[in-house]
Amino acid sequence: MPTPHIESREGEIAKVVLMPGDPKRAQFIAEHFLKDAVLVNDVRGMKAYTGMYQDTKVTVFASGMGIPSMGIYAYELYHFYDVDTIIRIGSCGSYQKELNLYDLILVDQAVTDSNFSESFANNKTDIVSSDASLNQLILETASSYQQKITKGAIFCSEAFYHIADQTPWQIEKYHCLGVEMESFALFTVAKALGKKASCILTVSDSLVTKEETTSEEREKSFTAMMKLALETVSRIK
Ligand code: HPA
Repeated sequence: MPTPHIESREGEIAKVVLMPGDPKRAQFIAEHFLKDAVLVNDVRGMKAYTGMYQDTKVTVFASGMGIPSMGIYAYELYHFYDVDTIIRIGSCGSYQKELNLYDLILVDQAVTDSNFSESFANNKTDIVSSDASLNQLILETASSYQQKITKGAIFCSEAFYHIADQTPWQIEKYHCLGVEMESFALFTVAKALGKKASCILTVSDSLVTKEETTSEEREKSFTAMMKLALETVSRIK
């Protein structure tokens, strides 16, 4: 059962997995939100914990940064560990002045400048959807306690730093709300394997106003997103 990147044994990974990018955030969630959390992966320091949220068994597994890293973990979790559902919980830069720091986004489409889909599945596309029924559950959960969340497309970038000054044309074409670097890989792998995936993001920096959060603030203050993801997970039938 262990794979090249995951040392967990059979049964140690839940059917539902939450994926922050940062291993420290995985640890923070396990320590603050899960009961009886056990460390189930530490290969390359990519920490994963399985524990209980209310009556639901859930694994929190870090994805690392970028499309290739997410592509590896999503594939291994779905294919080798028979995971059904992955919800990425990450951060993004915002392209819209209406979106403030710490606002939540539900990603219904990931748009990219990457050729991951062609490379992974010989399917050349720059846009992929998340799971509609899972998104519906996330929206219902959010509205059950008046959590504001904006649904829309995100640009999933291949590069964090750009020395070219033109912006990728896909951002305007698909009205992307912001930018991150992992959701396209997650949704592409899920779709190809017939599994469920979605992504909730917190705005960590604004590409319009240039405001940003510190890494410490980011680690600690994404509670609203974690709560929404966990409450959603507890409602999955
Ligand atoms: N760019 C890419 N990924 C990100 C950003 C960004 O500005 N902020 C958070 N994730």
